[in-house]
Amino acid sequence: MPNGERVLADGGLTMRIAIAFLAACLVLCLAACSKPAPEARTSPPEPITGERLAYIVGCVNCHHQTPKEILNAPPLLMVQAYSLPEFTTLLRTGVTRAGRDMYAQGSVMGIVAREQLAHLTDGEIASIHHYLQTGWTAERAALEEAKIATFPPPTFMKP
Ligand code: HEC
Repeated sequence: MPNGERVLADGGLTMRIAIAFLAACLVLCLAACSKPAPEARTSPPEPITGERLAYIVGCVNCHHQTPKEILNAPPLLMVQAYSLPEFTTLLRTGVTRAGRDMYAQGSVMGIVAREQLAHLTDGEIASIHHYLQTGWTAERAALEEAKIATFPPPTFMKP
């Protein structure tokens, strides 16, 4: 091959290497500038315990934290007499294990059961049932009720 051609061929090769180098730089630069992908959720949301549900959905509030003059709800210890199917019926329909329809009687428990507690899943109902049967005590209820006297005025409890 004449010398002139060899120079040309070498020049073409150098050019191709330079272009490849620039392209590599561009790719690296773009990769460095682009935002990192959002982190995928790796663990499912924490399950809510029966104890937290009993507070959040208002069982403890209506039954032990509200003055009886406002709301005369019986002690939550009553749930110990309820089987899980009876308890599920109570929370979904407002019908007691004795067959009393609290909604038909115009009781707030009947309304809260049908309009609010009916949204609980089977698992959530089972968690609340388990907690009220095994974790809830008369002492815990007394502790909640003792707070009522400490509420700030005005409350009709105080003169
Ligand atoms: C808005 C207030 C309110 C909320 C919230 C509430 N209750 Fe009640 N509950 C009452 C009242 C008032 C009664 C009494 C109604 C009656 O006897 O007619 C009652 C009655 C009951 C009874 C007695 C049923 C029977 O056999 O006579 C049970 C058991 C009970 N509630 C459990 C619960 C549980 C468990 C929750 C939470 C998942 C809950 N309640 C949430 C107000 C409430």
